[in-house]
Amino acid sequence: MTYEELMQKAVEASKNSYSPYSKFAVGACVMCKDGSVYTGCNFENSSFGMTICAERNAIGTAIAEGKRNIKAVAIYSPNQQNCAPCGACRQVIHEFCDNDEDVDIILQNGEELKIYTLAQLLPESFNL
Ligand code: THU
Repeated sequence: MTYEELMQKAVEASKNSYSPYSKFAVGACVMCKDGSVYTGCNFENSSFGMTICAERNAIGTAIAEGKRNIKAVAIYSPNQQNCAPCGACRQVIHEFCDNDEDVDIILQNGEELKIYTLAQLLPESFNL
């Protein structure tokens, strides 16, 4: 699947966002090394701290399907260009990849895609 197609799936997922409190919709699409893709959207709760980000929702689905090897993540918000993953999601992506330098984080910048590696967005990442 191309990165444009991955982004299109993130766009579609963002339409299912449950975000009545922030009114900030996010969709994500994760591609694993074997080419499989999983989507997620953010979903909030009246107990605000229970909110789950789109990226972690998508990654959770990948994990449930037995896939732990992330190659790329496309993220989209209709509310913001270049909607980059929060720090918590960067760390969770790190947990499920082989090498931060090999993971592409794909953002929508107008008509174009903007691509970072996870290593660029999460330098000196934490490991146990
Ligand atoms: N959000 C995400 O889904 N992903 C991120 O990486 C950043 C934030 C969501 C959480 C919340 O529902 C809304 O955006 C505003 O913070």
